[in-house]
Amino acid sequence: MTLPSTIKLDNMRNMVTHFPQLLSSIELDSNLTKICKEYEEEGIVGICFIGMGGSSIAGSYTKAILQSSSEIPMMVVKDYVLPKCVGRNWIVIAVSYSGNTEETLSALDNATASGARRILITSGGEMSERKNETIIQLPGGLQPRAALPLILSAVLPVTEKLLNLVTTDLQTISSFLVKSSDEWGKWIELPIEIIKSISNSIPLFMGAEHLIPVAYRAKCQINENSKSVAFYSELPEANHNEIEGFANKYRTSVLPILLRSTQYHPRIAKRFDVTKSVYENMGLRTIEIFAKGDSAIQEMLSLTHYLDSVSVELADINGTDSLMVEKISELKKRL
Ligand code: F6R
Repeated sequence: MTLPSTIKLDNMRNMVTHFPQLLSSIELDSNLTKICKEYEEEGIVGICFIGMGGSSIAGSYTKAILQSSSEIPMMVVKDYVLPKCVGRNWIVIAVSYSGNTEETLSALDNATASGARRILITSGGEMSERKNETIIQLPGGLQPRAALPLILSAVLPVTEKLLNLVTTDLQTISSFLVKSSDEWGKWIELPIEIIKSISNSIPLFMGAEHLIPVAYRAKCQINENSKSVAFYSELPEANHNEIEGFANKYRTSVLPILLRSTQYHPRIAKRFDVTKSVYENMGLRTIEIFAKGDSAIQEMLSLTHYLDSVSVELADINGTDSLMVEKISELKKRL
């Protein structure tokens, strides 16, 4: 499995441009399909995704995409230790793009000790050297966060097979993403345009349902690519606390960016309308972004591709290198 030859590994903008191609770069081999089938036939009581940062997002997306079809619980753990309930009848899908993230390796050790069956996804490092494991080997060289579509094209079909669900045609989704990004400027402002309204504020990405992980991903991309402060929150929960938090004089530095979907529960749609109006009456500026697509996955990925590009534009405005994450590297070294 190799990366598209046009990918430039020293350029985040180029990696983000290749988002649709990276989504369709992986084909699961027949051995892995057989293992998933065996696990499914043996019985599975839950699926636990483990990973940190850019490597954890694919698990959150998969959970959001499949939770309305899955009859068993799925959980995402971003920590050293797994909950006690993750045991023998569970499947743990461990993702670390570098293969060296200590929290993920520790949680993986936990999974081994508890007897959970495991599938590892990595491009190298310590994880790829683990013996007696089922390992999906990814091509290396990307930044983990830019590898989201690549990782998702392994995590999603594996989970679908474990759940005995029809697998999503990622090639079709990939073509949809190419088309939807060709139409930026029509269904949505160009990233370079929208950034003019965002660059002097602290973005607060607000999502609901399947767009909650998209809001979280956008916050992380603004942090890591643009080196800017950003936050995320979710509805309906934010209506029960955050909405009271804009009374002080600093409130106007925050820019709520409402991620909207035609698929939301009608009461959630109404909550977005009312929340926007309440915030504007308090003197806050808001932005609404309407997701494009006919399914949860199309909406999630087209919006993610767009917001990833926004984060790269903001990096340029901030005069920072969107590729490097010096503070994360420093922290990992010092630990
Ligand atoms: C860097 C990035 C980080 C890493 C995280 C875990 O591009 O996205 O959030 O993903 O530090 O490292 P990995 O993914 O190698 O397990």
